Amino acid sequence: MQVVIMPNESAAGEFAADMVERRAKADSLRVLGIATGSSPLPLYKALARRDLPAIRATRAFALDEYVGLPPGHPESYRSVIGREVTVRLGMDPGRVEVPDGSIDGLSTAGERYERLIADAGGIDVQILGIGTTGHIGFNEPTSSLTSRTRVKTLTEQTRRDNARFFPSPDDVPRHCVTQGLGTILDAREVILIAVGSRKAAAVAAAVEGPLTSMCPASVLQMHSRATVVVDEPAARELRLRSYYTEVLRLRPTWQI
Ligand code: F6R
Repeated sequence: MQVVIMPNESAAGEFAADMVERRAKADSLRVLGIATGSSPLPLYKALARRDLPAIRATRAFALDEYVGLPPGHPESYRSVIGREVTVRLGMDPGRVEVPDGSIDGLSTAGERYERLIADAGGIDVQILGIGTTGHIGFNEPTSSLTSRTRVKTLTEQTRRDNARFFPSPDDVPRHCVTQGLGTILDAREVILIAVGSRKAAAVAAAVEGPLTSMCPASVLQMHSRATVVVDEPAARELRLRSYYTEVLRLRPTWQI
């Protein structure tokens, strides 16, 4: 696992954007996995400032969706992805997929989403955020480390964390459809972005803690091409901070 510590949020976004741009220019980015939430916004903003036709041409798959929000709800991840990613990056909305969170489609939503990803040839680069519970996607603690896309129940902590996007905490849905940890591990490369001190404990558990479903993001220790990009506050609880900085300083740029 490569751990990159940047001085601030916008530098973290620029670093991750450099990585994505390099893959796009090398023609090794046909399918992009996208996360919602605040963490990847600096990356999307940085990519939007660069003129990258290859990004506009990518197929994209969102990680997750809330269950039961009415179509067009401004906080459904379909709407958020539309605003924050598709429009900003100039992607074709018809090539951006989001899991089906409608009540009617729930029993088959996971299977259908897995098939779509497989038919697209799999995800080349998966962008991830991390929740304070250690979740990636919405795989909450005790998620199976080999899980596939399915319905999950959000923890109260995650519902509280996401209440900032809704008129009241009670409006935050209790269920979601999320790519599984096994689905995420199948991506050819993953880039996790975490910023702010609220993420410090989860980042330390994911990177330096034991591999355990109690910190679902720790499953990334099993991925052969995983990069964790954090700002200084999110890196605060990492024990090997100076080692990561040294590794990055000495690394040839072609390897990043
Ligand atoms: C959302 C997702 C979640 C978020 C996580 C962090 O698609 O996959 O894992 O990345 O909840 O959210 P923020 O970045 O808003 O703190």
